[in-house]
Amino acid sequence: SRSIRLAVIPGDGIGQEVVAEGLKVLGAALPSGTKVETTEYDLGARRWHATGETLPDSVLEELKGHDAILLGAVGDPSVPSGVLERGLLLKLRFAFDHHVNLRPGKLFPGVKSPLAGEPQIDFVVVREGTEGPYVGNGGTLRAGTPHEVATEVSLNTAFGIERVVRDAYRRAAARPRKKLTLVHKNNVLVHAGHLWSSIFARVGQEFPEVTTDYLHVDAATIFFVTQPERFDVIVTDNLFGDILTDLAAAVTGGIGLAASGNINPSGDFPSMFEPVHGSAPDIAGQGKADPTATVLSVAMLLEHLGLAEEAARIEAAVAADLAERIDGPVRSTSQIGDALAARVAG
Ligand code: NAD
Ligand code: IPM
Ligand code: MN
Repeated sequence: SRSIRLAVIPGDGIGQEVVAEGLKVLGAALPSGTKVETTEYDLGARRWHATGETLPDSVLEELKGHDAILLGAVGDPSVPSGVLERGLLLKLRFAFDHHVNLRPGKLFPGVKSPLAGEPQIDFVVVREGTEGPYVGNGGTLRAGTPHEVATEVSLNTAFGIERVVRDAYRRAAARPRKKLTLVHKNNVLVHAGHLWSSIFARVGQEFPEVTTDYLHVDAATIFFVTQPERFDVIVTDNLFGDILTDLAAAVTGGIGLAASGNINPSGDFPSMFEPVHGSAPDIAGQGKADPTATVLSVAMLLEHLGLAEEAARIEAAVAADLAERIDGPVRSTSQIGDALAARVAG
């Protein structure tokens, strides 16, 4: 018998609501003989108001003893923007070296896309997760004066690019279409762009079976809307990947369906799974949030832990549920979670 040590960080807003449903479905999916020991961590706006802490070192240490982390969302209108996003979520991604931020973009059968026709969308964005403009390399000068200056310098290392690019090539090589698209902006961001492009070309020599393509990020947004079929695997910078994956969610049925995994491929630290969306203060506490993105993130978590069959059962349950949604009534967060758990169990 096996036991999974799972750390759970519901976080803020709808994070609390969707994680509860994700755990329901996880419970229903576990094979007999496998147990999950969850430890829930009270982190986010409440904790910050009460103690001033975002992610204490002691908690960071404890988290290391887990097999994986399930996170809801962080961020709250009552907390200055960036405090929780940087001090909790990004701190975790950086501390646990989550350099592969995996974000599938898949249009399930029967789901209505805002795009014309019936597009076939099935790609995965490999977003770099530990570098780029996210590193906090910047500052403010002459604050509060008319001459205030702000910098936010993007950090790109050959080491960091090479490892995520190679990971993306491996994923592309393992898929039927074997196609990898690099997205950057090497016509303007020439320093970082050159480093990405040259490493992309060099690592590509190890994968002759993979077809490659390059798009500037602005053009990529056009093709996400007009020709999403052209994408199989996409590899890109941290910030471009953030923006592209909200767009990917929008064209595949909405942000309520978009799952993600922050992967540490070496296994030195626990990987973390979370919906792509945020804490959605506009609908928090109303039972309106769609928990499907979190449920699909739980499937990614199980797959990562080697429970591929259970992950596939969850995906199949989601697919079946989505196929019936078009004509169905609007359901609450917990009604959707209950329905998915019942399908997985049954
Ligand atoms: P958001 O993703 O929270 O919300 C954008 C829109 O999508 C809102 O209208 C919201 O109601 C809707 N939405 C989001 N998730 C939904 C769901 N599951 N079901 C139905 N509708 C859903 O993005 P935002 O408004 O830009 O950010 C709100 C807060 O969340 C901010 O503090 C931001 O920093 C934070 N944030 C956190 C994460 C994260 O924890 N990973 C991600 C994005 C934003
Ligand atoms: C996401 C979010 C985060 C990001 C923020 C909240 C730090 O938008 O997970 O997509 O930009 O990565
Ligand atoms: Mn985002």
